[in-house]
Amino acid sequence: MCGIVGYWGPVGPKKVIIDGLRRLEYRGYDSTGVAIFNQKTLQVLRSPGKLAALEERLKGIEFSGPSGIGHTRWATHGVPNERNAHPHKVGPIAIVHNGIIENYAEIREMLIRRGDKINSDTDSELIAHLLNDELKSSKGLLEATVKLIPKLKGAYSILVINENEPDTLVAFKSGTPMVVGLGEKEVIIASDVQAIIEHTKRVIYLDDGEIVCTQKNSAKFYDIHGKPLDKKPVTLNWSTQMAEKQGFDHFMQKEIFEQPRALRQTLEPHVTLNPYSVNVKDLGLSESEIKDISRIQLIACGTSWHAALVSKYVFERLTKIPTDVDIASEFRYRDPILDKKTLVIAVSQSGETADTLAGLRLCKQQGLKTLAICNVPHSSIDRESHGHFYTQAGPEIGVASTKAFTAQILSLHLLALHFGRIRGSLNADQISSYTQDLIKVPSQVEVCLNHDKWFKEAAEDLAKYKGFLYLGRGICFPVALEGALKLKEITYLHAEGYPSGELKHGPIALVEPTMAIIAMCPQDDLYEKNVSNIEEVRARGGPIISIGTENDHTLEKLSLHFLSIPKAGWLTNPLLSAIPIQLLSYHLAVALGRDVDQPRNLAKSVTVE
Ligand code: G6P
Repeated sequence: MCGIVGYWGPVGPKKVIIDGLRRLEYRGYDSTGVAIFNQKTLQVLRSPGKLAALEERLKGIEFSGPSGIGHTRWATHGVPNERNAHPHKVGPIAIVHNGIIENYAEIREMLIRRGDKINSDTDSELIAHLLNDELKSSKGLLEATVKLIPKLKGAYSILVINENEPDTLVAFKSGTPMVVGLGEKEVIIASDVQAIIEHTKRVIYLDDGEIVCTQKNSAKFYDIHGKPLDKKPVTLNWSTQMAEKQGFDHFMQKEIFEQPRALRQTLEPHVTLNPYSVNVKDLGLSESEIKDISRIQLIACGTSWHAALVSKYVFERLTKIPTDVDIASEFRYRDPILDKKTLVIAVSQSGETADTLAGLRLCKQQGLKTLAICNVPHSSIDRESHGHFYTQAGPEIGVASTKAFTAQILSLHLLALHFGRIRGSLNADQISSYTQDLIKVPSQVEVCLNHDKWFKEAAEDLAKYKGFLYLGRGICFPVALEGALKLKEITYLHAEGYPSGELKHGPIALVEPTMAIIAMCPQDDLYEKNVSNIEEVRARGGPIISIGTENDHTLEKLSLHFLSIPKAGWLTNPLLSAIPIQLLSYHLAVALGRDVDQPRNLAKSVTVE
C-alpha cells in the first residue's frame, strides 16, 4: 500500500525520487519522506500529509550525492505524523518499508529492554535497529540484510541504504511488490513500475524471498540465504503518458472517459468477425482442460469482486458450470471445499491485492488450476497463476476503480463465451449473437458518456439527500453494489446496494423523502419485477433516480431523474449501467469538494491483510 522508490544515477536522486513518489502517491498518501545523500551524509526529511508538503520542505535544498530512497505512507502501525513517517534512520542505516512485521511487539520489547531509544510507533523503525545491529558484524549492507531476514515475520518489503555505501541499494521482498528498473547509467528500485517507466522499460520483478543488491547501475540478485540468482529482465509496454491526466480535472474522470478505448482493446484480440465468435488467445488453458472444469471459483476484493459477481450469472447461464464467487479475505479463512476439477479465477486490477494473492496460493497448494484476470502484466497474481487474461485498460491511477471494472466484466464475458463454445453449451447462433452484442459495447459506452451533462445535473441534485439505496436485479445487482461502493469511496456519504427483490425484507424501512433510491432498471427479462419494486418505493415517498433503457417513458414518469442507456442485450446492460453510476459519484464528489483521486483512508493497491 505504501509507495517505495530508490535511485542511484546521474539525474539527481531528489528529482527522480519526488517524481517517482508523485506517481506512487495513489498507493498511500498520509505522509512522505526521503533519505538522500548530501556530501557524505544521509539527510532525512519527512512530512505528514501529501507529497506537496514534503516538496515544500525540500525547496532550495540541493543534494550532492548519487543516491537516495523515498516513501509515501499508508499507516498501519502509528498515526500519520512526522515521527512515524519513513525513512527511519538508525546509525548509518535508513530504511523504507511496506507491509506488516508480525513479531513487531516482541522485537520492540527486546529493543526497549536493552535500552535502545525508539522514536516512532511504527514496526518499520524496529527493522532499522535490527539491521544496524547486523551491520556492525557484517562486511556490508547485503550481508547484514541476509542476516536480518530470519528475524522478521510477516508480509513485507524493505529498501535500505547505508551512509557508508553511497553506491549501494539493497531491497528484499516477502509479500508486497518490488521491482528493479535497469537504465543505461542508472538504477531505480520501486514498489510499482509507475515510478520506473519514465527512466527505463527494462525491469526485473523480485519474487518472494529474493534480495537485490545494486552497485552503481549493476544489479545482483540473491535468495534468502544470500545465494546468487540468475534473473532475466522483461520489457514493459506501458508509457508514462498513459498515467497522466491529459487535460481532465481528475484521473478518475479521465479513466471513466477512456472506457471505450479500454473495452475495444480488451475485446479485439479475442473476437472473430467471420463467423462472429470468441476465441481467447494465450489463455494458458487447453481445450481439454476447459472441457474438464466441473466448477468455477472466483476470488476478488472491492470493485473486482463486483465484476466477479456479474460473471456468476454469465458463467452459469452460458457454460452451465456451477460458479461461486468469494471475497478473497473470507475465502482464505473459511476452509473452502475444492475438488481438483475446480478452476480458480483471481480477478484483480493491480494483481497485488494481498488477500486475493493469498487465496490464489491456497488453491495452488491444493493442486488446482488457476487463472488470473489482471490489468497489470507481471504483477504477483499474474506471475503466480497458471493461465492469464489481461484487461487492456492501461494504468488506473484514480483510487476508485472505473475502467478496470468494465474491462473485467467484459473479459469475464469473453471467457464465458470461449468456454461455452468449447464445451458445446452454446450453439453457433447463440455465440454469433452474443459476440455481436459485445462488439457494439465500446460505441454504446461512448453514447452513455455523451450523456454526461445529464448525469452531472442529476448528481448535483443528489447533494441534498441523507442516504442512498442502490437497487438492481440479476446481472445488474452487482452494479448496484458497485454504485454504492463508488459513492461511499469518494463522497463519504452512506450508501447501500441491495437486490431489488430483497427490498421488502428490510431496506424498505429506510425509504423516506431524504433517502434517494438509485434503481438499475434496463429492459431485460426482469424489467416488470423491477418496475413493481420501484412503484413500492414511490408509494412510500422515496425519490427515484432510475437507470434504464432509452425511450422508456414508463420508467421516466416514475423517476425524478431518468438516466438513459442505449437499448442492449442482457450481457451488455451491466457494462452500460456502470457509466451513469460512475459519473453520478464523480460529479457528486466534485460538487461536495472531495478529493476525488485520493479519498481519505483509502489506497489503490491493498498489499496488507
Ligand atoms: C482497493 C482499491 C479498489 C479495488 C480493490 C481491489 O480497495 O481501492 O479500487 O477494487 O482494492 O483491488 P484489485 O487491484 O485486486 O482489483
